[in-house]
Amino acid sequence: LPDTEVIVVSNREPYIHEKTPDGVVLRKPASGLVSALEPITRTCGGTWIAHGGGSADRETVDQQDHVAVPPEDPTYTLRRVWLSEEELKGYYLGFANEGMWPLCHIAFTRPIFRAADWDAYQAVNRKFADAVIAEAKSDRPIVLVQDYHFALLPRLIRERLPNAIIITFWHIPWPNAEVFSICPWREQILDGLLGSSILGFHIQLHCNNFTESVDRFLESRIDREGAAISYKGGTTLVHAYPISIEWPKKPKFITTDPSRTLRDRHGIPDDVKIAIGVERLDYTKGVLDRFHALDEFFTQHSDWIGRLVFLQIAAPSRSDLPAYKLLHEECLALVAEINDRYGTDGYQPIILLDEHHTQEELAELYRAADICVVSSLHDGMNLVAKEFVASRDDERGVLILSTFAGASRELLEALIVNPFDPSSMGEAFFHALTMPEGEMRERMQRMREVVRSNNVFRWAGSMLVDAARLRKRAALTSA
Ligand code: G6P
Repeated sequence: LPDTEVIVVSNREPYIHEKTPDGVVLRKPASGLVSALEPITRTCGGTWIAHGGGSADRETVDQQDHVAVPPEDPTYTLRRVWLSEEELKGYYLGFANEGMWPLCHIAFTRPIFRAADWDAYQAVNRKFADAVIAEAKSDRPIVLVQDYHFALLPRLIRERLPNAIIITFWHIPWPNAEVFSICPWREQILDGLLGSSILGFHIQLHCNNFTESVDRFLESRIDREGAAISYKGGTTLVHAYPISIEWPKKPKFITTDPSRTLRDRHGIPDDVKIAIGVERLDYTKGVLDRFHALDEFFTQHSDWIGRLVFLQIAAPSRSDLPAYKLLHEECLALVAEINDRYGTDGYQPIILLDEHHTQEELAELYRAADICVVSSLHDGMNLVAKEFVASRDDERGVLILSTFAGASRELLEALIVNPFDPSSMGEAFFHALTMPEGEMRERMQRMREVVRSNNVFRWAGSMLVDAARLRKRAALTSA
């Protein structure tokens, strides 16, 4: 699609300017969506429209609320949209994160639907539609709409730019039709999404769930073989595109041993193994469940007490919401309990770091770990699993991966676990710690091949190829 204008829309922005006592600092958010989309937009150029949420964001834009990024070598424009406290409360915290997020993740947290949040959600979707129209320089741009914050946006754009190619990607799971039916505005959500030319999910199961939901609640024509839904005079292709990461460039000459730095920082002796978990502190990630598994492991294999440390990064997330505050408290209490049970003077089995970490710090952590645990209760893809694999150019380390994360469909050589079953997850720790070197390497090599070839450029590439086909077909039929 040469010469086509690209516009990305997401709630979370790729660069956040924050005020600190040392002046303004630039931060990259902890967001799987951003880690995947940033390399693509950096390469394609164009405009990325997102909510400007940083405390110094307003001071770092020009008159039209634009900022050229990446700051060191700009290749695209970030257009910030400003949201009021009220809008954020209803649209982001309320409808998106108390309604849609638990609705789509089968994590047994009851979704909350308030009419006022729905009003704010609709209003903010309209606000972003205005921003897309204001930014579009042609009548046929490609608009890449991201995630559950913008279910209504595809339709709103379609009404005003009928020739646009709208590719919507849903970064989280889609539940089955029965679960989805509890959303009081289910028809409007489906109608909004069907304004897209292409609607992408990570895995086929979520495509099927979406199609079943449409079948149940809208008058439409479904072509299951062609994976297409015709509705209100338009057609939407519903397809699985497993998201991924940018394959890292060969690391520059590394002088420091990542394991050394980490061990020195946290006082972990050389003969103690390190397991890690890296996430936003979110109830879908199964953080408590992996600690229960660790507890189970120490009970069954007490000779490992004192020989394994679990380092958990739990970046604060959505902490204004009660469900997240509660999780934080539960997490602190469980860590204290387990540390109390198995810890000694010089040994704490769990080290919880509930603060933000940079990509560089995470890469160091990934390389230092013997085991990485991803125990999501339900997850669209989970890019931590792929980042861990991509960081291991030494071909070592074991990945323990939840069967309920989309990544388990591709990373078949991980130790696949059910996070709802602490004793079998506990056994996976044992399996990982006693795995013969040869087997570890073979598994890691195989997973690295998968992530290297199914990288994020392939993800974006296959959506764009499908978009080009649609445009070609439309041109032929109108000729
Ligand atoms: C998930 C969502 C993203 C979101 C990210 C971080 O990956 O799919 O849309 O950006 O979590 O959450 P936050 O609410 O901080 O943007």
